[in-house]
Amino acid sequence: MMALRSGPPPAVAWIGGVDGYLRLLDQTLLPGTVETIDCRTVEQVWEAIRALRVRGAPAIGVAAAYGVVVGCQSARAGSPSAFAARLEQTLDYLASSRPTAVNLFWALDRLRRAAGAMPASATAADVLERLWREAQAIEAEDRQMCAAIGRWGAPLLSGCGGVLTHCNTGGLATAGEGTALAVIIAAARNNPRLRVYADETRPLLQGARLTTWELLQRGIDVCLICDAMAAWVMQQRRVQAVIVGADRIAANGDTANKIGTYGLSVLARAHGIPFYVAAPSSTFDRALPDGSRIPIEERPAAEITQPFGRMIAPEGCPTYNPAFDVAPAANITAIITERGVIQPVQAEQIDRVLSAAV
Ligand code: MRU
Repeated sequence: MMALRSGPPPAVAWIGGVDGYLRLLDQTLLPGTVETIDCRTVEQVWEAIRALRVRGAPAIGVAAAYGVVVGCQSARAGSPSAFAARLEQTLDYLASSRPTAVNLFWALDRLRRAAGAMPASATAADVLERLWREAQAIEAEDRQMCAAIGRWGAPLLSGCGGVLTHCNTGGLATAGEGTALAVIIAAARNNPRLRVYADETRPLLQGARLTTWELLQRGIDVCLICDAMAAWVMQQRRVQAVIVGADRIAANGDTANKIGTYGLSVLARAHGIPFYVAAPSSTFDRALPDGSRIPIEERPAAEITQPFGRMIAPEGCPTYNPAFDVAPAANITAIITERGVIQPVQAEQIDRVLSAAV
C-alpha cells in the first residue's frame, strides 16, 4: 500500500471552549492564498457560507452547527426563554444562507432537537454547552463518515486507470478526507497508477482551484480538464468511472450536485461508464420523493459574466446561473455511503442500506 502525503489544512475548526469561535479556511482565495477567517458573530458565519468561503455540503453543515453556538453565546447569561428565542432566530437566519445542501438543514435540526431535549431546569448556559457538544459531535461524525465512505468505495475503483470527478468533494468540503475524494484517496493508496481527471467546474472553479490543490498535496496523479472536455475524455477511454459528491439525495436516489453533474451522468451512461455518487447519510432528504422538488440555488450573474473580477461578457448580458442540477437515479450506478453501497439506486435499497448499523 502506498503512503500518501497529508491533505489540506482543515476547512472548519472550532477554537477554544464553549466561548470560543469558528475558524474557516477562506476557500475563495485558494489556491493562491491560504488564509483563515475567524468568525465571532453569526453574521460572519452566514456571510462565509453564502460567499462560499466555506462550501461543500458536509462542511456547510459543520460550519452552520458551530455558527449556532457563535450566535447564541451572547444569550448565555439571560433567561432560558430569552435563550430559546435567540436560538430560534439564529437557526432561521443560518437556514437562509444557502438552499440546496440539505446537510445545512440537517445540522440545524440536530441542534434544535438537542436543545429541545434539555430538562426544564436547564439554564441558558447549560443549553449553550449542549449545543456546542452537539456541533462537536457533528464534526467528529462527519470525519468518521468520510473514512467509512472511502473504505466502502475504494474497491469500486480498484480496476480503474482513470477516474473523472467534478467540483470539490475532499477535505475542503468536509471535516474529514471527503466523500468522492475520500474514495479516490483510498483507491489511490492501493493503486498508485490511478489518474484523476478533475473537471474545472465552471463558474467558480472548485475543481481547478481546490480539487487539484488537494490531490497534488497528497501526491495523487491529477489532470485538470475544462468541463467541456469530459465527453471526449470518456470517448477516448481515459476514464473507467465517474465519481461525484452530492448536496441532496431524494428518497428515490435522484441526486442534486454541482451544476454539470447531470450532464456527466448522461455522458457516462452514453459511454457505458459507471457513474458513482459518494455521500454520507446526512445528505439524504427522504422527505422528498424525487429530485423534482430539490431547491436549486441560483447565484449572481456576475459569477458567470465577470468571473474572478474580469468581465468576459457584454455589459448587461442576460444570464441564468443555477449552481446545482439533478442527476436522475436511473443514471447512477451506485451511491456510496458510510453504511454501505446502494446498488441498484432505488428507494427500497436506499432504505435498506441507510437503516443498517454503521
Ligand atoms: O457550491 P459548492 O462548492 O458548495 O458545491 C459543492 C458541491 O457541489 C459538492 O460536490 C457537494 O457539496 C459534495 S461535497 C462533499
